[in-house]
Amino acid sequence: MKILVTGGLGFIGSHTVVELQNQGFEVIIIDDCSNSTEKVLDGIVAITGKLPLFEKLDLKNRDKVEDFFKKHDDIEGVIHFAASKAVGESVEKPLLYYENNIGTLVYILKELSQKAKSSFIFSSSCTVYGQADVMPITEDAPVKTAESPYGNTKQMGEEIISDTCKVTPSLNAIALRYFNPMGAHPSVEIGELPTGVPQNLVPFITQTGVGMREQLSVFGDDYPTSDGTAVRDYIYVVDLAKAHVIALKRLLENKNDSNYEVFNVGTGTGSSVLEVIKSFEKVSGKKLNYKIMNRRAGDITSAYADTTKANNVLGWKSEYTLDQAMKSAWDWEQKIRK
Ligand SMILES: NC(=O)c1ccc[n+]([C@@H]2O[C@H](COP(=O)([O-])OP(=O)(O)OC[C@H]3O[C@@H](n4cnc5c(N)ncnc54)[C@H](O)[C@@H]3O)[C@@H](O)[C@H]2O)c1
Repeated sequence: MKILVTGGLGFIGSHTVVELQNQGFEVIIIDDCSNSTEKVLDGIVAITGKLPLFEKLDLKNRDKVEDFFKKHDDIEGVIHFAASKAVGESVEKPLLYYENNIGTLVYILKELSQKAKSSFIFSSSCTVYGQADVMPITEDAPVKTAESPYGNTKQMGEEIISDTCKVTPSLNAIALRYFNPMGAHPSVEIGELPTGVPQNLVPFITQTGVGMREQLSVFGDDYPTSDGTAVRDYIYVVDLAKAHVIALKRLLENKNDSNYEVFNVGTGTGSSVLEVIKSFEKVSGKKLNYKIMNRRAGDITSAYADTTKANNVLGWKSEYTLDQAMKSAWDWEQKIRK
């Protein structure tokens, strides 16, 4: 079965390509390398022994998207990762985010809507919940006003898919709301490759640990949490990748309850920033240089998933602990800095 993975050279996409190939799917990647490089293909081959098909293509170019789907009319499923993801940049350049994250989604859905049957997995985010009123967060928690254009593209993306599914019975879609992805493949052939200053906590920690950055700023130690620092749900990227394969199979095998479904993908456990730092210090044997700063505008106190629906309905559960995921992130950081 041929599966299109957009953004398949990126962090989560590349790990998902590996899991798809391991399960016997034929993968074709579209990526414009705006936030990745073709070298990622070498890592995928090293792990799976198979080179996926690859088309370097900017999905913002609607004509090229149309041509692509004409050429590959045997694609049975699409996992759509391609998007711009830097929250701060989205505030500076909202139109870039709306064009890249919404425009590309619309072009792909238009193509899929013309097919007799299609299966579509969308990268959504726990940002849609904002600061939820109740922890852990279930899929029924209300979607809160987005704090940034990036967050808004995930909310709008979900609405666009839901609206399209309502009038397109042949289109089956699942939105996966990721919590905080982290780590690298255990082979350390692929991992997170942030360009510039990392937006996420874990690569900032590992870059500080390896000496690339002087100090980690911990924003706020007066939150109403166990140690005062903000709490998130850190999900290992390989566990997350596996959730995509399970979700895709659910659609391909017609096991879905409706043609648009939403699942949280997290561990169900919240970890504070200081707990994440402790995990790094434990697996690396190094002391991390960090400093407590004031709270940062826009940060929420706590977000962790209720995974009951993912566990019982999707049939997926995270397997890796924070320490195991952190170890993979640290191994990866040391490898790439060599
Ligand atoms: N990493 C996270 O913390 C996180 C959390 C929640 C949701 N997500 C979502 O998951 C998805 C994947 O995230 P990631 O961390 O792997 O990001 P990433 O930047 O590593 O991967 C995205 C890939 O898409 C490509 N891309 C971007 N725009 C494109 C375009 N117009 N045409 C073709 N390719 C394009 C980039 O080159 C990159 O390889 C994104 O939609 C992101 O918003 C990520």
